[in-house]
Amino acid sequence: MRVSSERESCGSSETSALDDSAAWRQFDPEGMVGFASAFPRQCDRALQLADAWALPAVSAEISEVVVAGMGGSAAGGDLLQALAEKPAFVVRGYEIPPYVGPGTLFFAVSHSGDTEETISAYEAAKERAAAVLVVTSGGKLGAKAQADGTPLCLVPGGQPPRTSFGYLCLPLLHAAQRYGALSIAEGEREEMLTLLEGAAEEWGPQNPTPENAAKQLALALNDVVPIVYGSSGVTATVALRWKTQFNENAKIPSFFYSFPEMNHNEIMGWEGVQQGSGAFAVVLLRDKAESPRISARFEITKSLIRDKVAIYEVWSRGNHPLARAMYLNYLGDWVTVYSALLRGVDPAAIQSIKTLKQALSKI
Ligand code: PA5
Repeated sequence: MRVSSERESCGSSETSALDDSAAWRQFDPEGMVGFASAFPRQCDRALQLADAWALPAVSAEISEVVVAGMGGSAAGGDLLQALAEKPAFVVRGYEIPPYVGPGTLFFAVSHSGDTEETISAYEAAKERAAAVLVVTSGGKLGAKAQADGTPLCLVPGGQPPRTSFGYLCLPLLHAAQRYGALSIAEGEREEMLTLLEGAAEEWGPQNPTPENAAKQLALALNDVVPIVYGSSGVTATVALRWKTQFNENAKIPSFFYSFPEMNHNEIMGWEGVQQGSGAFAVVLLRDKAESPRISARFEITKSLIRDKVAIYEVWSRGNHPLARAMYLNYLGDWVTVYSALLRGVDPAAIQSIKTLKQALSKI
């Protein structure tokens, strides 16, 4: 993959601090680089877990899918929503929508199993007699699911939720397929795994900066607020994931939005940005399946904002939407972990989230 840039600052031909493992390792005590490297293997294992998940017949026909989860545990729901062939919604909060009932396939996803919003949503969905499934590594939600006899996909814990995207996403997609809300062909899974394995080689720390698009993009985005744009369909959900990964891994503000909606409001915001302010950079997530009208919108928008902001463009790879989404998602994982290491911060640390959860637990 090449990162294309409106300016010449990307595509570095020189090695960087990211090529010196002794230098960056001091900022990675929990091994986030290792988790990123292992992601293709995680996806393989997640598919095996999903295949082994005993999914019962449901009494009512499924009319919609709802996924309850927060933060890293909600991200798989976003992808399911983008790919689903039935109405699908992601609930990030305590309450569930009024339409949830026996015809709802309802996933409660929490990596720790202790997230209060997701537990509240789980209990509400059970009361409404929805077809509830749980994906967790344990915690209170795992215990409740076991006590209630709710179908449970127990995934490995011991690593941050956002590094467990394969475990938190692929069982959902598998179950949604089982209940007729999604179709994923066998070849799609194979394509995804092959692409991810190749990407791990290409973007991993062993590949030096001049040949490594993830390192190049992290270097280009150093000291700016990244604004990530996808387009409706899968890349909009991937843009949200990039934004949250910049927040949690690199500890920087970041924003996301999507085309074509961006052309109806956010485009105006760029009029107010001083030429060459250098405060922001734009990352465009491009998908080879985007429609010609969307492509035209990207090009016109670039011409309108290129004097105001550096623009970097990355393209998905793969034939199937799942593979293309996972590929771009994975690039975001690498870019944001490298951004943290360049800034000298631990990509695993999430002190403010922990402080918030602790403070809330005392109320
Ligand atoms: O990345 C994180 O640690 C958070 O975004 C968590 O995923 C979020 O707080 C929810 O926790 P859990 O995934 O354990 O339900």
